[in-house]
Amino acid sequence: MQKLQCSKEFMLHGSGLARHSLEIPFWRPPLKRKPATTAALLFLTVLLVAAFTSSSWIDTSSFFIENLRNKTIIISEKPKIPIQKIEIPLECTSSKNQTQTCPTNYPKTFQTEDLDPSSNPVCPDYFRWIHEDLRPWKTSGITRDMVERANRTATFRLVIIGGKAYVENYRKAIQTRDVFTIWGVLQLLRRYPGRLPDLEIMFDTEDKPQVRSSDYRGQNAPGPPPLFRYCGDKETLDIVFPDWSFWGWAEINIKPWHSILKDIREGNNQTSWIDREPYAYWKGNPFVDDRRQDLLKCNVSDQQDWNARLFIQDWILEGQQGFKQSNIAHQCTYRYKIYIEGYAWSVSEKYILACDSVTLIVQPKYYDFFMRSMQPVEHYWPIRDDDKCRSLKFAVDWGNHHKKKAQEIGKAAGSFMEEQLKMDYIYDYMYHLLNEYAKLLKFEARIPEGAVELCSEVMACHAEGIEGRKKKFMMESLVKGPSVSSACTLPPPYEPQALAAFVRRKINSIMQVKKWEKGYWDSLNKQ
Ligand SMILES: *[C@@H]1O[C@H](CO)[C@@H](O)[C@H](O)[C@H]1NC(C)=O
Ligand SMILES: *[C@@H]1O[C@H](CO)[C@@H](O)[C@H](O)[C@H]1NC(C)=O
Ligand SMILES: *[C@@H]1O[C@H](CO)[C@@H](O)[C@H](O)[C@H]1NC(C)=O
Ligand SMILES: *[C@@H]1O[C@H](CO)[C@@H](O)[C@H](O)[C@H]1NC(C)=O
Ligand SMILES: *[C@@H]1O[C@H](CO)[C@@H](O)[C@H](O)[C@H]1NC(C)=O
Repeated sequence: MQKLQCSKEFMLHGSGLARHSLEIPFWRPPLKRKPATTAALLFLTVLLVAAFTSSSWIDTSSFFIENLRNKTIIISEKPKIPIQKIEIPLECTSSKNQTQTCPTNYPKTFQTEDLDPSSNPVCPDYFRWIHEDLRPWKTSGITRDMVERANRTATFRLVIIGGKAYVENYRKAIQTRDVFTIWGVLQLLRRYPGRLPDLEIMFDTEDKPQVRSSDYRGQNAPGPPPLFRYCGDKETLDIVFPDWSFWGWAEINIKPWHSILKDIREGNNQTSWIDREPYAYWKGNPFVDDRRQDLLKCNVSDQQDWNARLFIQDWILEGQQGFKQSNIAHQCTYRYKIYIEGYAWSVSEKYILACDSVTLIVQPKYYDFFMRSMQPVEHYWPIRDDDKCRSLKFAVDWGNHHKKKAQEIGKAAGSFMEEQLKMDYIYDYMYHLLNEYAKLLKFEARIPEGAVELCSEVMACHAEGIEGRKKKFMMESLVKGPSVSSACTLPPPYEPQALAAFVRRKINSIMQVKKWEKGYWDSLNKQ
């Protein structure tokens, strides 16, 4: 029960800026475009003009243009062969006292509708960060020694050989984080059998990133250990991976992500933005971080109203009451929802962003695998960390006076969650990350002594505990059989200039909001 309190409670989180960009400099970055960006824009414009003028392109639908606004790419559509989707249920032994084994007849390969996977639609932009996360090993490759050194804090080592998964445990994880993380990888293997290379990864299920980049600078410094975890920050090199809650968080009754998305979608449909409470809402555990305690000072009282409505989440009490008050899908009833980091990043981020409310993100320190591609003012509203109450008051006032724009921001985040963060893409992200990682390995993976083979049957068939939710969530998130399509196409790395421009845009938006905020308070104080 102690663990529940001190670990990542759960209620708000955000990351955001790239490794290089968290400090906001007080200079005005040059607005001039770099020639390369201009050339790229010009090229894109030419393509778009061509697409619109040559209507035969569109009519024959030999090409379609996917999302001009999100600047993605013109994709040629290749013929598809229809494939019957097969379902392969778990092969469970009938009795619990019989040892559950892994089946030997799960398909080792699968056929897809796409004849040429390289012509599949390009994955969402946040996949580009895979290249950035692996960049430290781009020239050196990854040696066995580097991997072994990651055992300092690793929770487990995961080995994939010949499409089978083996796990060697080093230390106890918080709650069922390790269980559902490994479960996620096993589902990936069911989805894309035969398409994952042999590899070994070290995984740390704790919150805070560990591999400090400053320890690995200089000529004679050893290569950094590649360590997988759920979040990173600008000072560390940990490789970010989707967190366990995508497959469920049994302890606090949070269902797998695809079920939650469905619930939230239905919830969003029931209350339109305009009918929601016109305040900023937060509910969470304030005891994990001082910044959260600080946030609570902004709560409404007899003396003050910063437009914030803040509540303490007591998970233990909630558990005793059957989680009646903590249904995530019922927490989309305010126009504004605050995300603030806890001990590190917080899982709550995606649930908040999915609400179609305006997410107010208190300047984050950490990032997860998708947040780096979201833009302030486009997908969320940035809140100052050093002046939270005034910042919140302004944000809510601004939104209530710019309702159309505010709704657009809320909707942009909701659509991002629903479209770009759907489970298909979570698997594709893991698929590409692990494939790119494995390309860097300079040694042959081997099964360590003391490792056990794990498959969905061994984990799920006789799973017990946490009031049956472990098994329930596993069955709910089970991949039913091989996919009928291959993964999306991994976009190339950012050009350095494009990355710099992206980061600059983010910084500029945050600075812009700070200016508006200052103007707002200056004018109020003059009155
Ligand atoms: C791109 O943006 C449009 C409009 O905002 C949206 O409908 C579409 O789903 C987005 N596509 C992707 C891949 O983000
Ligand atoms: C296994 O369980 C069954 C009932 O579930 C019981 O009849 C049997 O005696 C058990 N066998 C052993 C070896 O425990
Ligand atoms: C970690 O790796 C080092 C170097 O290979 C080894 O000496 C040590 O025993 C390992 N520690 C654990 C906990 O496995
Ligand atoms: C909910 O969905 C229905 C059917 O799609 C639609 O007619 C209705 O306007 C939606 N309600 C809200 C509040 O979005
Ligand atoms: C914040 O204020 C509301 C309304 O008065 C109250 O219900 C709530 O308990 C307060 N939250 C905290 C953390 O004190």
